[in-house]
Amino acid sequence: MDVSPGPIVSAKDLTRRFGTVLAVDHVSLNIAAGELFGLIGPNGAGKSTLMKMFTTMIPPTSGRATIAGFDVAVQPQEVRKRIGYVPQLLSADGELTGYENMLLSARLYLIPSAARESRVQAALEMMGLTDVKNRLVQTYSGGMARRLEIAQSTLHRPAVLFMDEPTVGLDPGGRRAVWEHVRALHREMGAAVVFSTHYMDEAEAVCDRLALIAHGKVAALGTPDELKARLGGQASLDDVFAELTNERIAPVGGGQ
Ligand SMILES: Nc1ncnc2c1ncn2[C@@H]1O[C@H](COP(=O)(O)OP(=O)(O)OP(=O)(O)O)[C@@H](O)[C@H]1O
Ligand SMILES: [Mg+2]
Repeated sequence: MDVSPGPIVSAKDLTRRFGTVLAVDHVSLNIAAGELFGLIGPNGAGKSTLMKMFTTMIPPTSGRATIAGFDVAVQPQEVRKRIGYVPQLLSADGELTGYENMLLSARLYLIPSAARESRVQAALEMMGLTDVKNRLVQTYSGGMARRLEIAQSTLHRPAVLFMDEPTVGLDPGGRRAVWEHVRALHREMGAAVVFSTHYMDEAEAVCDRLALIAHGKVAALGTPDELKARLGGQASLDDVFAELTNERIAPVGGGQ
């Protein structure tokens, strides 16, 4: 897949309104090819809306976003060829097997029929699903279903993969398995990965850089270490989140 020398994802004053709600408010940021980029922020901050604009699901109200140099509003077809998208809600069909879901996606992404089988098998293998590929998806655990959706979204070898809360609701083992496989995929495909999460440990462990979104704006942008350094000393990413969103969680046993 051709990748332009500029940022793979770029936003300039990107804004989205829903009636009177300003969901995304003049967001500007650049994400480099191959970067692992996290979006954190409280419920309703605008993370999903931002991702939906990057993935051409909804148009911006104003401002601009590009993927590999292509404007999401002007050349959505060029954008869609270069992205994979795993939405916040589970989307695989439970009444089909994992393999059948993958074949459907391969058709959707216009993978030539001669290449379909090998692409599907390779993606299932990469996400650790080969052994369960012939089971109905309704019998999968949450983590397995999530890994299947990630596998589906990578069949056309996108230059950037957007994942909206890929590990929400998974137990620690399931979360770890998702990330081990996403890292392997990142290594092999070299794709940038843009994901949102409410788990600060995950944001810290996985991403090269992250943006903290609050009230539709970028409240902080940098590496996890850079963000922590802003508060000095022993600050954790939880502290940074609390400080910038005013959502400090009361310590167990009260106090403060
Ligand atoms: N289709 C819509 N119509 C009206 N308002 C919307 C719509 N989608 C989102 N919003 C509003 O936009 C704001 C941002 O929502 P968004 O889903 O982007 O937040 P989020 O950061 O993804 O939250 P969460 O962490 O809960 O997933 C919220 O106030 C939400 O109610
Ligand atoms: Mg969301």
